[in-house]
Amino acid sequence: MQTLNDLLTESIIFANREVLSPHYTPQKLIYREREINNIEKAIAPSLKGERGRNLFIYGKTGTGKTSCVRYVINEVKNIPNTKAQISYINCRIYNSRYRVFSKIISDHLPTYAKRGYGAVDLYEKLTSWIEEEGRILVVALDEIDVVKDLDDLVYTLTRINSDIKTGGVTIIGISNKVSFKEELDPRSLSTLYETELVFAPYYATELYEIIKDRVAVGFRKDVITEEVLRFIAASAAKEGGDARFSLKVLSRAGEISEERNKSKITMDEATQAAKVTEEDVVYEVISTLPEHQKLVLYAIAMLAHGGGTYKKLTDGVDTYLFSGEVYNRYKSLSESMHRESKSERWYRKYLADLEMQGLITSFESGKGIRGHTKLIKLMYPSEKTKQVLESDIFGAAKEPPGTETAGR
Ligand SMILES: Nc1ncnc2c1ncn2[C@@H]1O[C@H](COP(=O)(O)OP(=O)(O)O)[C@@H](O)[C@H]1O
Ligand SMILES: [Mg+2]
Repeated sequence: MQTLNDLLTESIIFANREVLSPHYTPQKLIYREREINNIEKAIAPSLKGERGRNLFIYGKTGTGKTSCVRYVINEVKNIPNTKAQISYINCRIYNSRYRVFSKIISDHLPTYAKRGYGAVDLYEKLTSWIEEEGRILVVALDEIDVVKDLDDLVYTLTRINSDIKTGGVTIIGISNKVSFKEELDPRSLSTLYETELVFAPYYATELYEIIKDRVAVGFRKDVITEEVLRFIAASAAKEGGDARFSLKVLSRAGEISEERNKSKITMDEATQAAKVTEEDVVYEVISTLPEHQKLVLYAIAMLAHGGGTYKKLTDGVDTYLFSGEVYNRYKSLSESMHRESKSERWYRKYLADLEMQGLITSFESGKGIRGHTKLIKLMYPSEKTKQVLESDIFGAAKEPPGTETAGR
């Protein structure tokens, strides 16, 4: 299908921009048979009016979690006369128990939804609706980690199962956050993780096949070469096996070629597109960090950037910072921003979180380097990281506080 945009611009690069969009759900999902099968197993009992086991799905961004779940949901929606009633919920939008319940109600009881009832009414209405026909409600909670009162939500959903005699609720939780499990209340954890399914990052060869399918439809003939495709697949593999990343690079490369009035995408445009997309990703990751992690990262970027007198270690290629130095800088930064700095215990947790996000790497030095200490390396260019943080933390303020001369 051509979009209005395609028709208006008559691009010499794009044949169909939409299939290159990361929001587009492809008809065919390759390399995910096992995963799709596991999701089907979780949902299958509901078709017969039985409650299936809850399923928890996790894996890095762009590994196909959302697409696979939506794919199975669409399959089920095409089956007539089943007890299964499915709600797909994007928790970035519906990020509280109340909102999730309202969304479920509006999916299945639209006339009731408009009346603006309170939480208890919604709960009762939903419970009796499930029970009256022995329905099985399957709730797919995508990006579940952003729900503010998640323990309450999980509790309330499972509570329905004990409140009713027929029918039930099955939960499919989905998260990009691999460490999420460690943050959960034990009760929610045992509910959500009845079964788990991990989505592994894609290999470069798999990413290549994934984008190849899109290229055939998305671009005009002979716009892109094998070499460029391989390069894009490899750069997305480096970014954590992220299919969304590869699609973004692909369409960005097309746009750059268009701007340059070229009829082909060469390595030049692809390299540029990969660079810009990588910066976008870093920007996104950084801007969603909690405040104190931003401050710790800012301290790291400042130290890595400056040529000052702080202690660092260089092996000719990389520069490593001493953890103690970073902590001191973080403390003075917090002070200058009138924030209370957190203890070293918290600081170590922040470092672990930043490392999880791929923003830094750290390791314990062996003996010899001042006894035993942690060394830290920034994974992205310090200048760029600093800039992103400055506009993010300090907004429009030109002069960030906490530099060498800061102090009141
Ligand atoms: N196996 C696959 N086959 C084809 N396209 C895929 C596949 N996996 C992911 N994609 C594409 O990558 C994009 C990102 O996938 P998504 O399901 O949103 O990942 P996640 O939810 O894990 O972040 C999707 O829009 C889809 O177009
Ligand atoms: Mg997703």
